[in-house]
Amino acid sequence: GKGGYDHYMLKEIYEQPTALRQSIRGRSDPLEGRAELEELADDAFEGIESVHLVAMGTSYHAALYAQMLLADRGIPAQAFLSGEYGSSPPPTDDRTLVIAVTQSGETADTLSAVRSVQGTGAHTLAVTNVVGSTITRECEDTVYIRAGPEIGVAATKSFSSQVATLVLLSERLSHDITGGTPRATAELLEALSVLPDDVQRILDESTAEAVAAEYHDSDSYFFIGRGVAHPVSMEGALKFKEITYDHAEGFSAAELKHGPLALVTENTPVFAVFTGRDDTKTLHNVKEIRARGAPVVAVAAEGTDRIEEYADHVLEIPNTHPDVAGVLANVQLQLVSYLAANELSRAIDKPRNLAKSVTVE
Ligand code: M6R
Repeated sequence: GKGGYDHYMLKEIYEQPTALRQSIRGRSDPLEGRAELEELADDAFEGIESVHLVAMGTSYHAALYAQMLLADRGIPAQAFLSGEYGSSPPPTDDRTLVIAVTQSGETADTLSAVRSVQGTGAHTLAVTNVVGSTITRECEDTVYIRAGPEIGVAATKSFSSQVATLVLLSERLSHDITGGTPRATAELLEALSVLPDDVQRILDESTAEAVAAEYHDSDSYFFIGRGVAHPVSMEGALKFKEITYDHAEGFSAAELKHGPLALVTENTPVFAVFTGRDDTKTLHNVKEIRARGAPVVAVAAEGTDRIEEYADHVLEIPNTHPDVAGVLANVQLQLVSYLAANELSRAIDKPRNLAKSVTVE
C-alpha cells in the first residue's frame, strides 16, 4: 500500500534515503578509494576503451549524467536515446561497452538497442532495478540499482539510485581504463556515503511547498543548468510536465541565449540548478532571465548568497561534491512537481496517456 502517503510518488520520494543506502551498501570503500560492484568480475572491462549508454526518459537523463561523469574521468562516453540508437547505429566493436539503463528492464526501445549491437563484439551491461527482467537476459552483465519496487508512473527513487550506481560504475571504469585517481575517488565516495542523509535533510527541511503554492498557475516553465545540472534540468522538466500537464522545458543554461530566451517573460518561472561547478556562468544567465521579469527559483547549496540576491526563492541543498549535488537538486525538483500537481489535483500516480513501462517501440 501507500503506507499513509496520499500517492505512491510521494512515498517513493520519501523512500530515497533508504533506496540510496541499499544502492551503495557494500559497494564502496572510501578509505581505499575504490568502488566495488560485486556483480562484476575483475576482468569485466578488460579491453574496453569507450562507453555507449542507451536509455529512455528518466533513465536517459541518468545516462546523460553518467556520460558527463565518464567524460570527466577521461573515458569517451556518449548517451543515446535507445529508441534512436538502432536507426543510425554508431560503430561498436569489442572495445565498446554498451550500458543499458532501464528501471523496469522491459523498455522495448532499450531492449532493441542492446539487440542491435549483438554480433559486433560490443560488451553489454544492464543497469536495472528489476531482478530477472528481460534486459538482464539480453546483456552479458547486470548491475542492480536496488531501489526497491517503484509503483508510481513518475520515476523518482529509481533515478536517484541509478545515478548513485552509475557514480560507482564510473569510478570502477575509471580505475580499470585509466588507472583512476584514488584520492579523488575517496572524496567522491565519502560524499556518496552521506548522500542518503543529505536527501533526508532535504525531505525534512524543503521549502518546495511555498514554491509550488506560488508557481503552479503558469502555462510554461523552464529548467536550466550546466554540467550534470543539465540532465537534472531535463529531468525536472519531464517530471513537471508529466504530472502537472503544464508545458515545461529543460535545457542547458548555455543554450538560453541561442533561442529559448525569446520565450522568457514574467509568466514563465525559471528553475535554475546550481551544483557548485560553473555556477558563475549560470548566475549570469539568471541575471538575464531576471531582466526579462521572469521569476527565478534557484536550487543551490546553502549559503550561496550571491545566488540569493538574484533569485525569488532558493531551494537549498546541503553542500556536497558536485558529482552528486545533482541528485540532491533533483529531489527538490521532484517535491516541487509533486506539490504543484497536487495543487492542481492531477492523477499523480497515473498521469494521462502514460504507462509505467513502455513495452512497444
Ligand atoms: O523502465 P525504464 O527506466 O526503461 O523506463 C524508461 C522511461 O519510460 C521512464 O524512465 C519514464 O520516462 C519515466 N517513468 C518518467 O517518469
